[in-house]
Amino acid sequence: MAGDGIGPEVTAQAVKVLRKVLPQAETEEAPVGLAAIDARGVPLPDESLALARRADAILFGAVGGPGEEALPRDKRPGTSLLLLRESLQLYANFRPAFLFPELVGASTFKPEVVEGVDLVILRELTGDVYFGQPRGIETDASGQRFGFNTMRYTESEIERIAHAAFRAARQRRRKVCSVDKANVLEVMQLWREVMIRVGREYPDVELSHLFIDAAAMSLMRTPKAFDVIVTGNMFGDILSDAAAMLTGSIGMLPSASLGEGDKGLYEPIHGSAPDIAGRNLANPLAAILSLAMLLRHSFGLDDKARQVETAVRTALARGFRTADIHQPGTERVGTDQMGDAVVQAL
Ligand code: IPM
Ligand code: MG
Repeated sequence: MAGDGIGPEVTAQAVKVLRKVLPQAETEEAPVGLAAIDARGVPLPDESLALARRADAILFGAVGGPGEEALPRDKRPGTSLLLLRESLQLYANFRPAFLFPELVGASTFKPEVVEGVDLVILRELTGDVYFGQPRGIETDASGQRFGFNTMRYTESEIERIAHAAFRAARQRRRKVCSVDKANVLEVMQLWREVMIRVGREYPDVELSHLFIDAAAMSLMRTPKAFDVIVTGNMFGDILSDAAAMLTGSIGMLPSASLGEGDKGLYEPIHGSAPDIAGRNLANPLAAILSLAMLLRHSFGLDDKARQVETAVRTALARGFRTADIHQPGTERVGTDQMGDAVVQAL
């Protein structure tokens, strides 16, 4: 599901890499976002959803573009992504922020702050204010309009994301930091209670808590202190874009959205970037690294995933850079050439 803007360009590079590492993989394409609205009048046509249900894994590009604000909410391109996440119950969104040593100079942060950053933001993806009811824009008795959304989490929703966080930490450095706003919001007070309760089942994992404002600051000040950050849908959306800057560019960050089974949706965390779409400028590495996550989680091919990650590293070590991560002394290349450099390294 390549979608809109730079989505098709970066996804094409990831597919190219897939053809190289796993030639026997069967692929099918389906329209989503503005592309689907143009073709079928809705952001997620039934056939696209049906195909997503049948697939073992979904490689997603990006959705959205100019003029979308004018569309009713259920017809907006971003709705396709929200519907996919909800329909497939992909509640656990892993957004790893890892700094390739080759890109230390590309980050806006001082090298000593970001060198060695290796954390994962685990964002709850099917609850919170994104999906909570009631929501809307209505008019009060005085004739003034008011808008409202509901931040809501059930205990079981918090429990399952908590377990996902502790399990992920066991594969890493055994540290979980839960990010909430328990000092102000009841829903987040419940979040913290449940985190602590579930945490007792994982005595080998260290659990800490931060309020979202302090977490945002600590992430910028001492990012190396973090291992797994678990948080709600909205806070995770914001923190993960911020974390991207630690790694040099938002064009470097992949993600995996998982549910109970092996099926997953894999997408770069960047958007459709209409300003650079169609100009062979976009960085395809987040899409290619998303493919690596797909190989690892949905196909259980850890060795192939590693090969792809190593090939990305090799392409960077050979000096290839798209515009977003370009520095003096490196070779500036386009989307296509970056994809080729990864294929070549494979
Ligand atoms: C993301 C995006 C989406 C979100 C939008 C496109 C609906 O920002 O995946 O982070 O808010 O979840
Ligand atoms: Mg976002």
